[in-house]
Amino acid sequence: MVIAVYPGSFDPATYGHLDVIRRASVSFDKVIVGVLHNSAKSPLFSVEERVNILEKATKDMANVEIKAFEGLSVNFARENHAQVIVRGLRAVTDFEFELQMAQTNRVLAPDVDTVFLTTSLEYAYLSSTIMKEVASYDGDLSKFAPPEITEAVKKKMHDLKK
Ligand code: PNS
Repeated sequence: MVIAVYPGSFDPATYGHLDVIRRASVSFDKVIVGVLHNSAKSPLFSVEERVNILEKATKDMANVEIKAFEGLSVNFARENHAQVIVRGLRAVTDFEFELQMAQTNRVLAPDVDTVFLTTSLEYAYLSSTIMKEVASYDGDLSKFAPPEITEAVKKKMHDLKK
């Protein structure tokens, strides 16, 4: 049984993330999405909200589980008996940092491998940051994430402006 973890910030998840999760769920027996609780960053959504959003968006994927985690991704992988860390690669600009992270993770945990899935072309431009930027100007979010996520983003932005 090959278990993969997919760590990330997911603040919030986009169609790009959901595409990587769905494709990983085909290749691996189990995919555990790790939502990073990083006290140094100030995300738009709390870690509980990000987990909740992802649980709803992946409810049709039977072998996918969502968990919050703190600390190193390799420790999260080991705690969950995962042999693989999955990351999405959008463009060459992602590559340098992702390679450095994968190599560091390999030094820290030689028993855990990183597998990159190239993002589907239609989502290659997309990021949580871009979605939040468009949302802050009340733009159309429908191409970026499913309605349950875009509604949560709009509500959060609205509440922040109060
Ligand atoms: O969605 P992101 O923000 O690109 O995800 C980055 C993430 C969470 C995968 C990365 O920052 C991470 O693994 N953080 C946990 C600490 C760690 O293990 N760092 C890698 C070794 S340098």
